Amino acid sequence: MTDATSFVYRFEKAGRADAPPLLLLHGTGGDETDLLQLGAMISPGSALLSPRGRVLEHGMPRFFRRLAEGVFDEQDVRKRALELGEFVEGARRRHGIAAPVAVGFSNGANIAAALLLTKPEVLAGAVLMRAMVPLSDPPKARLDGKPVLILSGQADPIVPPGNAARLSAMLADAGAKVILRTLPSGHQLSQADVNLARDWIAGVDARVA
Ligand code: MLT
Repeated sequence: MTDATSFVYRFEKAGRADAPPLLLLHGTGGDETDLLQLGAMISPGSALLSPRGRVLEHGMPRFFRRLAEGVFDEQDVRKRALELGEFVEGARRRHGIAAPVAVGFSNGANIAAALLLTKPEVLAGAVLMRAMVPLSDPPKARLDGKPVLILSGQADPIVPPGNAARLSAMLADAGAKVILRTLPSGHQLSQADVNLARDWIAGVDARVA
């Protein structure tokens, strides 16, 4: 599917009314199909909304521009986060779903964090896997107890040490209910990520939206 904001995306209907819809956000070079299986594993029966990032880096889809690895074009981050927020709101109306819980990996986790900081009302919560601080000077967001799970890798060569803890503090300062877990892994996801995300989502009330 392609919507009015020109995101190519996949939508899978909910199989269970009490499962929160998920907004799946892939990493650099991924696409709208990448996280469908992960979404079904961590929250069976959830509606799945999965857009493809609209920025191309040497042909690889991403959700915002970067100047170098780990160095973000923050103006673009802000613009793209708002654009993604509009996409989600349009998709909610079209498909009749509640505000989703974002499940993002790497670049997808970073745009999810940016969305929480710029347009928090779009999301019911977020699972941020291998995320970094997306904006050095974010707007004053009010996250009002939104649940956020950050899963970071102890030996992640892409996310600098301490960065996930900074992101956690930034979101908690804005009022989010953050859990940060550091796993003995690198940038890639492991079974531990799946298990932790699944257990955490099971505790998120679909009606928080
Ligand atoms: C990013 O650019 O968002 C991060 O460096 C993660 C990545 O996509 O490699």
